[in-house]
Amino acid sequence: MLNRGIQPIAPSSIAITGEVRTPEGKEPYVVPRALRDDELPEIVAGFRKAAENTQAAGFDGVEIHGANGYLLDEFLRNGSNKRSGRYGGSFESRARLTMEVLESVSSVWGGNRVGLRISPLNSYNSMVDSDPIGLFGWLVARLNDFDLAYLHVMRGDFYRQQSGDVLTPIRQCYEGVLIGNMGYSGEEAARDIAAGKLHAVAFGVSFLANPDLPERFKMNAALNQPDPDTFYTFGPEGYIDYPAMTI
Ligand SMILES: Cc1cc2nc3c(=O)[nH]c(=O)nc-3n(C[C@H](O)[C@H](O)[C@H](O)COP(=O)(O)O)c2cc1C
Repeated sequence: MLNRGIQPIAPSSIAITGEVRTPEGKEPYVVPRALRDDELPEIVAGFRKAAENTQAAGFDGVEIHGANGYLLDEFLRNGSNKRSGRYGGSFESRARLTMEVLESVSSVWGGNRVGLRISPLNSYNSMVDSDPIGLFGWLVARLNDFDLAYLHVMRGDFYRQQSGDVLTPIRQCYEGVLIGNMGYSGEEAARDIAAGKLHAVAFGVSFLANPDLPERFKMNAALNQPDPDTFYTFGPEGYIDYPAMTI
């Protein structure tokens, strides 16, 4: 799908396989245009501008999205980044754009108000890397220089095509605050935090289906079951209509 008539941009001209959901229905993904190296400063400037806007709007901090096949993730992983030159090839070159964005956004907010989200194994948006543990181990070791508010790691793969334990090697390489995500129950989250594997866990689907999730965890109460048919839909149904507990 062309975005309002504009061709999407990417590190390399590789289309996502399958179809994209749009308000008008499903459409095949289009082949994106590969960015030139001399366009990347403008991309970094865009992140900086967004950081300034969030500050002006009164936010407490920002999370940089380096996951799920969005632009930074596309540069990181070698299934989508086939570039040569300064932004392709080695771990360092593929991570260069992420580092430049982190530096720029940290200079606006201060590093300790900036988080980063990554998804080393998620194949969503046709993402794949030939050495995810090597790549992300290398990346998170470099993050120690940034004094980030936190690193937020989606540990799995929506489509279960790629598997493995990414959190253990990341914990070994990364010294800062670590948030885990994906497929956690309240019990597993509490256990892993108590064991020092993580500082916190982020909940997606269970929070969507339970607006009072922290209270339910505290009371060990039953959870509403999520309805996947309403995920990624465009109306309010499935987002604001799950009931809270009646006590
Ligand atoms: C309806 C829905 C929309 C989502 N939208 C996004 C999104 O825009 N960007 C993103 O990175 N993750 C998105 N996610 C993924 C969640 O943030 C989370 O990583 C995922 O659900 C796994 O965590 P969980 O097992 O606790 O649900 C979405 C998930 C759902 C169910």
